[in-house]
Amino acid sequence: MPFAVARLPFVLLSLRAMVVNDQNKFQAIISHAKEYGFVFQSSEIYDGLSAVYDYGPWGSELKKNIREAWWNAMTRMHDNIVGIDAAIFMHPTTWKASGHVDNFSDPMIDNKDSKKRYRVDHLIEGFADALNKEGKTTEAEKLIADMDALLAANDYGGLKQLIDDNKMKCSVSGTCNWTDVRQFNLMFSTQLGSVAEDASEIYLRPETAQGIFVNFLNVQKTARMKIPFGIAQVGKAFRNEIVARQFIFRMREFEQMEMQFFIRPGTQQEWYAYWKAERMKWHESMGIPAESYRFHDHVKLAHYADAAVDIEYSFPFGWKEVEGIHSRTDFDLKSHQQYSGKKLQYFDTEINQNYVPYVIETSIGLDRMFLLTMCHAYQEEKWTKEDGTEDSRVVLKIPAKIAPIKLAILPLLKKEGLPDIAKEIMATCRTEFYCFYEEKDTIGKRYRRMDALGTPFCITIDHQTKEDQTVTIRYRDTMTQERIPVEGLVQFIKSKL
Ligand code: GAP
Repeated sequence: MPFAVARLPFVLLSLRAMVVNDQNKFQAIISHAKEYGFVFQSSEIYDGLSAVYDYGPWGSELKKNIREAWWNAMTRMHDNIVGIDAAIFMHPTTWKASGHVDNFSDPMIDNKDSKKRYRVDHLIEGFADALNKEGKTTEAEKLIADMDALLAANDYGGLKQLIDDNKMKCSVSGTCNWTDVRQFNLMFSTQLGSVAEDASEIYLRPETAQGIFVNFLNVQKTARMKIPFGIAQVGKAFRNEIVARQFIFRMREFEQMEMQFFIRPGTQQEWYAYWKAERMKWHESMGIPAESYRFHDHVKLAHYADAAVDIEYSFPFGWKEVEGIHSRTDFDLKSHQQYSGKKLQYFDTEINQNYVPYVIETSIGLDRMFLLTMCHAYQEEKWTKEDGTEDSRVVLKIPAKIAPIKLAILPLLKKEGLPDIAKEIMATCRTEFYCFYEEKDTIGKRYRRMDALGTPFCITIDHQTKEDQTVTIRYRDTMTQERIPVEGLVQFIKSKL
């Protein structure tokens, strides 16, 4: 039965995005994420824990949907990729073999008089705070920008110079007598074992990749995989980050979605190009246009890589890395082979050769992809109604397939049997996709709330529903409405996901 798109009670004469500057937009996104139950500061009642965040009801749902979209794209859609779920704790030698014990570090400085050790960023940020309190905000901002640039360039001499030039003092000795800047490891460690004397120090994994490498043979043999093949994993990683600002962009506890693709040595260039293209296609499939992304080749390569590129997104605070694609050579498997004394090789029946496979890695931060989705979806819109008055809304235009709530079911009134019909519809739809039932407030307020949560479809049950078994469906992005039959509603929504 065809139903025409209804004219809205207010006609959108000119729907336009409100002009907000990027920094304001970013602050607005952070506030929105908290106000609408997406992301909270961890342990907020105790004033929070720096760079650690909790996901609320709608944030955890959105995060789960992104995770699933990645997992399905990797495993279900590729015959030659399987998944694993390795433990966070690993044998400490893993991190010696991977190079993290020796190479995964950030700069620190000691005061020679008090012997107090500072993280370089803490010392400089403390000094910048003091400048801010004196009203010298421009100097403070410049100092932080200079520090970020020097940290990014690993310029430790420059950082020391910055500390000396600004005559930064130790809070204990009050002197400016500093050592050179030295490295500080980013891995968190803890004790394994119940009695202190017997306990041994282990690390919280700083990346999920090593859980894949140490399981290479287990997976290859049990899942009967033939090269080329991949192992995918999603899980928590922990880094004692030195520059941990910008909300969930850089966290100390975060989730990674990584895939190691094992290949024949010598084919790495071809597979590197393949995964660059494949990953970009995935990003576009998540509803983000290609022009919001760019590739950024690494000039300085990590100790394990012979080529590396970042997929960067244009965040409100600039172009930043979301995902890394790394040609990791045979570094990891060879190193684990050497440290463990166990062979990690593959017999390639096609060429009758035994070798340690090469690896192409794709590694994306789930929290970063979440932030990217929020930044892209968040819009403040304003328009003039037919009667000349202004109206506005905040809407999250999250792609329907990953939206936390797919369908809001709203009886127009709390009486006259409308809630009963709505609850019946709810019972049918909730087994198929995430639905939300709401009968409080005016219908206009309920629509606005659903816009703010990113719900792509709302249906309203009214008196006409009783007569012809139709409901009004309202589309989040255009705010247009049409009547559709209740019968076939599930299929109708599914076809839009
Ligand atoms: N196994 C390779 C690896 O871990 P990486 O470039 O250090 O490479 C990969 O990290 C991805 O993990 C990054 O592109 C980013 O999306 C995410 N990531 C890294 N550190 C993060 C942090 N502190 N907070 C949130 N996401 C982070």
